[in-house]
Amino acid sequence: MEDKNIKIAEQDTDIDNNINIITIDGPAGCGKSTIAKMLAKEFNLIYVDTGAMYRALTLIALENNIDLNDEDSIIQAAEKSNLEFDYSVGDINKYTKVMLNGKDITLDIRSKRVGDAVSIVSKLSKVRKYLVKLQRKIAFKYPCILEGRDTGSVVCPSAICKIYLTANINERVNRREKQLCENNQTLSREQIKYEIEKRDKIDSSREDSPLVIPDGATVIDTSNMTINEVFNSVKKIYNEKLNQSIN
Ligand code: DC
Repeated sequence: MEDKNIKIAEQDTDIDNNINIITIDGPAGCGKSTIAKMLAKEFNLIYVDTGAMYRALTLIALENNIDLNDEDSIIQAAEKSNLEFDYSVGDINKYTKVMLNGKDITLDIRSKRVGDAVSIVSKLSKVRKYLVKLQRKIAFKYPCILEGRDTGSVVCPSAICKIYLTANINERVNRREKQLCENNQTLSREQIKYEIEKRDKIDSSREDSPLVIPDGATVIDTSNMTINEVFNSVKKIYNEKLNQSIN
């Protein structure tokens, strides 16, 4: 794992070279992470799973018994922690590896406890500002693919290729069920549906950086597409954008 600690410089980083940045946003369960990992492998890009960052800060808050609305204390606790994300892509079906103070928390941040609390923490403006700064710092330094809810609208609005993926609710439930199964986790379909819909509502209605289609993004409804079809479609768009930027 590369040593990229979450402790970051105070100043904001301006991103002026976005030639190699792809952003993928969209609601929960629409296939963003699988596509992002496939693209990262194909184009040799760093894969930045921004959702994992919000989840990790949520776990830190829970483990330190911090009030989930206390943004200053959450950031202080995060700054004191040694939090590392593995930006490389190994197995497409596996989650981003995350370490906290030397302990592997990859699956802990996917637990129901964290899943239930992450929407509260990801609403906090100071937490968002803190993580956006980190995400921009990475994007400035490495050719990357950023995946999340606000990567094309807020984190990197001038990225060369901005994609917004979506899918109908049944398909999203199917995909989340499969993903949980692959990671040896189980939840009933009703529960998955309830949680996806609840998350959608919170993510789309929050005041700071709600989930929106970023300006200039290409929208792809993946409901009736295979993963390979979506992958090929995004690949084509990215190559076109690269060609346009060179000519
Ligand atoms: O993609 P995910 O399910 O791991 O995301 C976890 C939560 O973090 C989700 O409720 C939305 C939030 N999130 C966010 O607010 N902004 C991002 N860029 C990424 C995730």
